[in-house]
Amino acid sequence: MRMILKKGFILVLLLVFPISTYAQELKAFKLPAPQTEGGKPIMQALKDRKSTREYSAKELPLQVLSDLLWAANGINRPDSEHHTSPTAMNMQEIDIYVVKSDGLYLFDATANTLVPILAQDIRALAGRQPFVKDAPLNLIYVADFSKMSMLSAQDKDFYSATDTGFISENVYLFCASSGLATVVRGSMDKSALAKAMKLRSDQKIILAQTVGFPKE
Ligand SMILES: Cc1cc2nc3c(=O)[nH]c(=O)nc-3n(C[C@H](O)[C@H](O)[C@H](O)COP(=O)(O)O)c2cc1C
Repeated sequence: MRMILKKGFILVLLLVFPISTYAQELKAFKLPAPQTEGGKPIMQALKDRKSTREYSAKELPLQVLSDLLWAANGINRPDSEHHTSPTAMNMQEIDIYVVKSDGLYLFDATANTLVPILAQDIRALAGRQPFVKDAPLNLIYVADFSKMSMLSAQDKDFYSATDTGFISENVYLFCASSGLATVVRGSMDKSALAKAMKLRSDQKIILAQTVGFPKE
């Protein structure tokens, strides 16, 4: 009788808190406040901007990750919730997904938090080039077409591509300023990656960008 009760209790626990390989195993983490002072002067960063395809496997410190994501598309005017990157009609339709060795996260700029999506290393799917799976960080730029419903299909494609370009260039300049390596990439199997990321049909991967320390 006691045994049956114990088994029943475990069953109820499993139903309430199901074991899953999904995001439950990853913790949401609040990023430290971005450091928005300093860095190289803009003309120096422009001088140093370049694409790099050789990376160290060393993880980025959390502060650097926070600064990078803020530079990419963080909120720089909290009163109006405007971002470091412009978007057509302020649609704010580009989401930044963060692919790390421990899993996939979504950058929530308002909460300055990484929201866990998947507790799985999907770096091998983030691009076709060999360095992608070994680099510590890949950013995936995903357009949320549900925020663009008033536009034609052609304009959805056009604006989501241009708006992604601004984010990517911010990342290039931040990396040039901070001594990090980066390259924006179009080369990937987008449908395989979208499937692994469990994207909705109205979410579209535009580009990816690898970031890390340069290989020594
Ligand atoms: C839209 C776009 C897609 C790109 N896709 C790739 C890519 O898939 N793989 C890659 O190694 N570089 C990619 N690049 C980087 C370019 O090859 C690079 O910017 C170009 O060679 C000029 O070099 P630079 O950035 O060092 O000036 C891409 C750049 C852009 C703008």
